[in-house]
Amino acid sequence: MQRFYITTPIYYVNAKPHLGHAYTTTVADSLNRFHRLMGEETYFLTGTDEHGDKIVQAAESNGQTPQEYVDTISKLFQDLWPNMNISNNDFIRTTDPRHKEVVQQILQKVYDAGDIYFGEYGGHYCFGCERFYTEKELVNGLCPDHQTKPEYIAEKNYFFKMSKYRDWLLEHINKNPDFIRPERYKKEVVSLLESGELEDLCISRPKSRLTWGIELPFDAEYVTYVWFDALINYVAALGWPDGEKFNKFWPVANHLVAKDILKPHAIFWPTMLKAAGIEPYQHLNVHGYWLVEDTKMSKSIGNVVEPLAMKDAYGLDAFRYFLLREMSFGQDSSFSEKALVGRLNADLANDLGNLFNRTLSMTHKYFGGQIPRPDVEDVVDAEIKKIGQDAMQSFQDFFSDLKFSRALEGLWELVRGLNKYIDETAPWALYKAKNTGRLSTVIYVLLENMRKIAVHLWPVMPEASEKMLEQLGFNFDPEKVNLPKELDVWGLIESDITVAK
Ligand code: MSP
Repeated sequence: MQRFYITTPIYYVNAKPHLGHAYTTTVADSLNRFHRLMGEETYFLTGTDEHGDKIVQAAESNGQTPQEYVDTISKLFQDLWPNMNISNNDFIRTTDPRHKEVVQQILQKVYDAGDIYFGEYGGHYCFGCERFYTEKELVNGLCPDHQTKPEYIAEKNYFFKMSKYRDWLLEHINKNPDFIRPERYKKEVVSLLESGELEDLCISRPKSRLTWGIELPFDAEYVTYVWFDALINYVAALGWPDGEKFNKFWPVANHLVAKDILKPHAIFWPTMLKAAGIEPYQHLNVHGYWLVEDTKMSKSIGNVVEPLAMKDAYGLDAFRYFLLREMSFGQDSSFSEKALVGRLNADLANDLGNLFNRTLSMTHKYFGGQIPRPDVEDVVDAEIKKIGQDAMQSFQDFFSDLKFSRALEGLWELVRGLNKYIDETAPWALYKAKNTGRLSTVIYVLLENMRKIAVHLWPVMPEASEKMLEQLGFNFDPEKVNLPKELDVWGLIESDITVAK
């Protein structure tokens, strides 16, 4: 059996969940559901990232201890996901004992192998960014992100010999062209690696400066700095080194992140894995940024989009559909309620809603709600069947390739094709002419194709899909449906049962 492991970034608990987090997690959820329908065994992980300076500061300004603070915000994420129909199998927190244990084991392993050393480090440190800047990176001596003057800090720290793995990583990327996708992000990483020496990575902070972190197993005066802690969640949750889930799912690991954290995932993480003797993940999937009316979302501008507000206003499935349909995976996209309403009206209410309404009401009007037995066939039936096969094939191919927008566009060829099929076959005229033989086939063809559409929509709009299938009297079980087989299977809608009004 094929398998699929999908992860989201573990989100920082210094901000409440917003559109950006909801997007990544919804895409991961849709992929998880899609691969289930493709007949694969899947595992889906999300979680929260809870250590570091920023957390301590946020806790202080909230009058809480760091632990109280992270518990509160992590819970916001844990409570949000079921509300968005997110089907994650696990939720990991970097403050979980199971996570801390694996981080320490890996640190020790890499240290014993001689890839971690102690050295002096000096640099311009921005507390807002939690990172050091080189002289060159500063703009007029200020942090380019925060426009504040960084503090010069010189201290002794531990370093991971990342530079040692540069050639190996370049070779791995070249040998596995879809290791990082889409292509533009792979190119970005390759040119970064080719442009010069890869630096070593500072992986610690002295406890005199930061205590809210995981203690280094080989020096109790230090804690691990964020990335060497956070990235390890992806293997910790599977029970590395010898958990059953690790053996099953690590070889098919798919990380999903936005472009903001490309470098840690594309460069730090594979080299860390290599040093720890762990195989690289299978794919890093990188998407662009959601902007709001063309500007960055920010608390200070006050344009932060809250997922639950969108759910309340438009319904969860319409929101999920919009997220996947609107953004071209890999590129930035602009969010606006106007665009959401536009899609909702055009694609969902007009195209899809009309198809369902018209067909169900005709089934009631002409057959008392009972699904007719197909009878007299015509060439238009073969034509619409072909349109359906092409649409489903295109949906499946594009979806596997993370081109969600094109996948849905592909499936809508069938939605629109069926609306046209109604206009062309004119069931009302067949009814008037008492041509029941032909009318039965037309209604059956419509209902069976609607079943196929609803099944394909389950990854994107799970609730609406299940409701549509229920209306069609189809007993839906994700473990029994198989999308590739849908191309050839015909006649799963049962004649003589009654459809909803
Ligand atoms: N804690 C780190 C990740 C560690 S993973 C080992 C982190 N957290 S974060 O809370 O800042 O989340 C960043 C991620 O949130 C992005 O990579 C993306 O998945 C999502 N997004 C946050 N804002 C976004 C947009 N405006 N648009 C799209 N996604 C964005 O980085």
